[in-house]
Amino acid sequence: MRFSATLLSTVALVPTLAWSLTVSPAVTPFCQSPSVVSSTTIGENNDVQVQTLKCANAITEDAVSKASLDKRQVNVCTTDCTRNCFTPSGGGPDPNECHVIADALLFDSQNVGALFTIPANASVVTMQFRSCLTFFVNQAGVDEQFCRTGWSSIIDNVAFNCQATQNAHGGNCVPQDQRWFIQVQNVNA
Ligand SMILES: *[C@@H]1O[C@H](CO)[C@@H](O)[C@H](O)[C@H]1NC(C)=O
Repeated sequence: MRFSATLLSTVALVPTLAWSLTVSPAVTPFCQSPSVVSSTTIGENNDVQVQTLKCANAITEDAVSKASLDKRQVNVCTTDCTRNCFTPSGGGPDPNECHVIADALLFDSQNVGALFTIPANASVVTMQFRSCLTFFVNQAGVDEQFCRTGWSSIIDNVAFNCQATQNAHGGNCVPQDQRWFIQVQNVNA
């Protein structure tokens, strides 16, 4: 009895000690049982929290073209996506706090590299600063490369155009082939 009680408490403590930032519940509608693959901070002031998540399920869209699945890795670096605002107004992220994430991505683009890879087996990347949460979801079923500058401008585009004046509280941007999407929302939404 004593042994199993000790074992249980050890297991329960490990995630708390390893990751100060919990996984956002915002990802669980599409990412089942997310586990944290890596956790870091980025930006000039290292104040934007980044997590890479692995989902128990395979995230793929039916709309993904079969041609793209034949490739081992695809470069999907673009800002060509359709913006969808989430209604109604109230409880959105502070767009200026989202802009801090956008700036951190530009800083990393210059100092780390223009491209980053989102592997099919760790298909969700989240970034968070104060009220603002953004995440990139790879739904292609193959590794994808994306540009940091692209994610940066999509964050600003969604954050500043899906606000209370648009009867919105954040939103996402989805390309026509649905091989990925980027969402911008409040951390508590
Ligand atoms: C993903 O797959 C690569 C290549 O097979 C492997 O090296 C890596 O450890 C895997 N990552 C995860 C989080 O499973």
